[in-house]
Amino acid sequence: MPLERLISARQLTIPVLHEIFQTARKMRTICQEKGRTNLLADKMIGLVFLEPSSRTLLSFQSAAQRLGAGIVFIQGVGSTSFEKGESLSDAIKVVSGYCDLIVARLPKSGDAQIASDASCVPFINAGDGGNEHPTQSLVDTFTIIEELGTLSNLQYAFGFDPLQSRSIHSLCLVLSQFENIGFDFISPPELMAPRWLVEQCTERSVRVSQSTSLAELKNPDVIYLNRLQEERFPDRSLFEKYRYEYRLTPEEIPASCRLILDPLPRVDEIALSVDELPIAGYFRQAQNGVYLRMALLAMLLGRDIA
Ligand code: CP
Repeated sequence: MPLERLISARQLTIPVLHEIFQTARKMRTICQEKGRTNLLADKMIGLVFLEPSSRTLLSFQSAAQRLGAGIVFIQGVGSTSFEKGESLSDAIKVVSGYCDLIVARLPKSGDAQIASDASCVPFINAGDGGNEHPTQSLVDTFTIIEELGTLSNLQYAFGFDPLQSRSIHSLCLVLSQFENIGFDFISPPELMAPRWLVEQCTERSVRVSQSTSLAELKNPDVIYLNRLQEERFPDRSLFEKYRYEYRLTPEEIPASCRLILDPLPRVDEIALSVDELPIAGYFRQAQNGVYLRMALLAMLLGRDIA
């Protein structure tokens, strides 16, 4: 399987997904039965995280260490030579001399491509600004298939910031390959899904609709929510205007819904009382991050497990 760099969810074709899912299931068994393996004991992973992260950073750290790999990392720009004006390309070129694979979370849309072009070793985009988050889409699709048994023939609802949520962008790009699916984007009018995403999904025969209210939900099987992306609002008053208005409560969940996901962190978008429902899958989703990232690291470094 030729995947050596993961920049966009567009690279995650159905055969690639199935291969990663199969390996992720084996990784889950390793974690549950032995805790770790030496598959990458001779490898060093570079983690370059220039934007805040809990799940992605820690699940990649856990994944690398459960595979026996060493880690070098940059977390935040404050203590690094970015503060002295070093360019992203120069920094990545240097880090790629210290490790065998780089995972990077970067602040601007398009930074992942720049960093990958500069890297001499395999590269993984762990989120580039408001653009994409392809490893999150692996975690999301794996969780759906493990919980519902399929990615096809489902109605998906996405809220509440499809304009700026990189997790929603990447997940829609992956799901749009599957048959007989519908996407209902729910958001304030100013935060509707970007035209490029709607066009791409429509071209692939996804039924797409956009609504401004949870009351207009179209019998979803899966509800996927992500917080309003506070750090990406050019006008903070818009964030304040909507932050409490768009929140899922148990009373608003349609009977059709079988799974609620959220890449997290949760801020205001899901009431705490939803957590008690068996269909609230977001903490199980977060745990799956380790298995998927173990599978991805092994794949990009050309290692198989029996
Ligand atoms: N889902 C996700 O990307 O979470 P973090 O920002 O905490 O990594």
